[in-house]
Amino acid sequence: MSVQLTKWSKKIATGNREIDEQHMGLFQTFIDFITASKSGDSGSKIKSTLEFLVQYSQEHLSYEEDYYKRSNYPKLKEHRKMHEEFSQNLRMIKRTYHNEKGKIETKKLNEMLGGWLLDHIAKSDMEAAYWIKENPTKFQPS
Ligand SMILES: [Fe+2]
Ligand SMILES: [Fe+2]
Repeated sequence: MSVQLTKWSKKIATGNREIDEQHMGLFQTFIDFITASKSGDSGSKIKSTLEFLVQYSQEHLSYEEDYYKRSNYPKLKEHRKMHEEFSQNLRMIKRTYHNEKGKIETKKLNEMLGGWLLDHIAKSDMEAAYWIKENPTKFQPS
């Protein structure tokens, strides 16, 4: 997959400040990773990207799921499945990284991040954002 979308843009603003800031953080990490890969310095960058992603998948995904739950978003179950799939892929990449002493398939991580940014945030997260905007009365503050 070739990645076209490398910058966060207002087109994918969900309207939830916390979620948007977390998405921006991911985009920045992705841009840094691509830059490092091109300069041949991917070793240390992969490590910090992985560390960020582990934190991201724990904090961002659970924040988002909780927000959707409080909004009574009807596709929460389906959405959670996509998050789980992402976390599983991430764990697999991390395991490979540790088992093979720093070796990692740069292409694989690149594709996974690119796929997540393009397919998940731009489509699934935005679908949820639109639904929440159209159904504001269903939101229950924590
Ligand atoms: Fe998200
Ligand atoms: Fe999501």
